[in-house]
Amino acid sequence: MIVLSIMNNKGGVSKTVTSINAAAYLSKKNRVLLIDFDAQANSTGATIESSVSHVGEWLTGEKSFQEVVVKYQNQFDVLPSGRPLQTYAKAIGSEDDYQFILKERIEEDKLNERYDCIVIDNAPSLTTLAYTTFIAATHILIPSTAEEFSIAGIPNILQTVANVQKRYNPGLKVVGIFFSKYHSSYRSRIDNDMVAGTKEAYGDLVLNTTIRNNVAIKEAMAYRTPVFAYAPNSAGAEDYEALMEEVITKL
Ligand SMILES: Nc1ncnc2c1ncn2[C@@H]1O[C@H](COP(=O)(O)OP(=O)(O)OP(=O)(O)O)[C@@H](O)[C@H]1O
Ligand SMILES: [Mg+2]
Repeated sequence: MIVLSIMNNKGGVSKTVTSINAAAYLSKKNRVLLIDFDAQANSTGATIESSVSHVGEWLTGEKSFQEVVVKYQNQFDVLPSGRPLQTYAKAIGSEDDYQFILKERIEEDKLNERYDCIVIDNAPSLTTLAYTTFIAATHILIPSTAEEFSIAGIPNILQTVANVQKRYNPGLKVVGIFFSKYHSSYRSRIDNDMVAGTKEAYGDLVLNTTIRNNVAIKEAMAYRTPVFAYAPNSAGAEDYEALMEEVITKL
């Protein structure tokens, strides 16, 4: 089973959009679970809208997996989030060996028998919950925008991956870094320069695909529909298909 954690500690860099569209794309051929690990609950809002239960209740064992999981349009399953997740995350983080909690719950509930892929949407910081995904994940995918502050977070993530590989999860792999909300017009030379600089610094870790700034992506999220269904001929659908095909070659 692939466990793909979508991570950047910078906000607004397309983690949620990528999580939803990755789940949708992978679900064409695989059984997929999307975990919303952000108390902002954007992945939840953009798929099943809302839920009375949240993933924190499953992590702590208050509720069973079946009680929390929700189906999204026969495409994939969602472990939803909600505001209370923030309080749960604090409590979880204060327990000994908390970092293993996600991995243990996945194993106890034998999610590898139910799913081929788990996609995890994270909050915009290296929180307690995000850290548990480094232990449970097989792969990390790093979206960024071509902005200094988004790129500046990357060394931090890679350092955390290196520490986790050494101590807990030697098989953890970084799929790559990719750019989203990309403006390639002549007016945005800065975007091109930022991408070139990142390629110089990280070499092959930078994926070939970039996701253009495209209004269909924004609209699709608002209408709770993956971009492939909302606007199949849009630049957004084309780019996310290319990204996922590239990601699949690296899994
Ligand atoms: N390629 C794109 N083109 C146009 N709009 C985009 C694109 N990618 C993301 N957006 C929009 O940018 C906003 C932020 O995207 P998203 O919510 O996916 O980021 P995030 O990294 O999950 O943010 P947060 O850190 O707050 O969780 C959303 O309104 C989304 O619709
Ligand atoms: Mg988000």
